[in-house]
Amino acid sequence: MNKRLYIETVGCQMNVLDSELVVASLRQRGYELVESPKHADTVLFNTCSVRQHAEDKIYSALGRLKHAKQHHPQKIIGVLGCMAQKDQKLIFERAPYVDLVVGPGQLHQVPDLIEKIAQGSGPCMEVSLSRKDGSRDQISRSHESFDPLRDPTMRPTPFQAYVRIQIGCDKFCTYCIVPMVRGPEQGRAPEDIVSESRVLVDQGSKEITLLGQTVNSYRYRHNGMTTRFSDLLSMLHDINGLERIKFVTNHPKDMTDDLLCAVRDLSKVSPYLHIPAQSGSNRILTRMKRGYTVEEYLEMMQRIDDTVPDAAVTSDFIVGFCGETEDEFQQTVNLVKTCRFKNSFIFKYSVRPGTKGAEQLTDDVPEAVKKRRNNELLAVQNTISAQDNLRFLGRTLEVLVEGPSKTAVKQGASAKAILQLTGRTPCDRIVVFEGNERQIGQILPVTCYDTTSFTLFGLVVTSHIGPHAYDLEPLKASAQK
Ligand code: 5AD
Ligand code: SF4
Repeated sequence: MNKRLYIETVGCQMNVLDSELVVASLRQRGYELVESPKHADTVLFNTCSVRQHAEDKIYSALGRLKHAKQHHPQKIIGVLGCMAQKDQKLIFERAPYVDLVVGPGQLHQVPDLIEKIAQGSGPCMEVSLSRKDGSRDQISRSHESFDPLRDPTMRPTPFQAYVRIQIGCDKFCTYCIVPMVRGPEQGRAPEDIVSESRVLVDQGSKEITLLGQTVNSYRYRHNGMTTRFSDLLSMLHDINGLERIKFVTNHPKDMTDDLLCAVRDLSKVSPYLHIPAQSGSNRILTRMKRGYTVEEYLEMMQRIDDTVPDAAVTSDFIVGFCGETEDEFQQTVNLVKTCRFKNSFIFKYSVRPGTKGAEQLTDDVPEAVKKRRNNELLAVQNTISAQDNLRFLGRTLEVLVEGPSKTAVKQGASAKAILQLTGRTPCDRIVVFEGNERQIGQILPVTCYDTTSFTLFGLVVTSHIGPHAYDLEPLKASAQK
């Protein structure tokens, strides 16, 4: 069979990593990546179920392939990831020309399944046990992770890589489908995480982002010994050549003091903390089953401020959750104003069949109200971000240069010309500046001369005295602000 593969990924970083692993396993079997489904023999969608909108996008993309499949029946169409696990057979019913449905815990089977289908087996489906279909152990075992296989071309950039340290989630927030589709929380063995990270650094990664649904609840017990997340950070910090360690997503309940001290004391660990609050109302937080109160969240923010005063904290919010009153929404606005997050991701509540929220609560906030609350909260957050970014004016920051900026890419900038580049500070702030291709992948001092809510604009600080004329160490403290 011809082995031209097209893969489209939606959703979180976990999905980006899963797609990297699927591509790596298919390359081993001789597949090559192509840029469009039209030229592909196998078309895969790695899907997300967190909101209805993400699913609708995939069903429309599948709809667009109906015609192609009629004309090229040998084209293999596969749906992978969270929506595959959630909808299972329903996908074949809604799009009968789909050949393959594989949940996130079964992705290691993709190469064999594609070959089986090519040989005429007919449609195949492999999903993990659902959360009610067995003991915790059985369900855990049915969600497998096959992380060691990697593919450098599928990374965000050649110098940035994701490393999964945990799969699944046990928090069961009432709105969230993740515990159902990604299974029980399981930490990976620390030695495996460290050795995988070493390989990634040897392949050129300077920055590693550790992934877990509740990454800071990571724990690994073996032979009576427990490795905490802070211990894992210390182990990774010792890897030569690794320059930055980031991690997402944190749960407020697991933001322990030992972790905050690790962030403070380990220079490679970015003082960037994504800790979704979701709501500023205690009644809504209880309905969401988040497990903390607004007061406890604020107490956590105080501890962060006391221990890592330069930390950049970001959050997620859901507006229009079941029963959310105007007053409760205003409490969320107040929380954003009090915490002054670096930025917030704001979502309109989307009912997820299979969750407690869908079964037990009524989605009673009208869409127009959700939309208005979303815009209002976003405006408050954007004003805060714009105000806070002003303090970077005139300061020199340490920037890992990721590549040409979006504008430069759009303009098809030639490799040798002066390019508009983009990179990030240790606190995950985006910096845009002019430079050249050689600077991509380097960590450079950049002085900020203009700012918006989302972007800092800067100039590279150069010296003609010699290659080591500037010392980045003193910059670290200011870059973290
Ligand atoms: N509706 C809207 N937003 C959701 N999120 C998770 N589930 C839902 C849902 N059903 C948001 C939360 C989470 C982020 C990744 O997505 O804010 O932190
Ligand atoms: Fe979903 Fe809550 Fe788990 Fe996050 S902590 S993945 S929001 S259930």
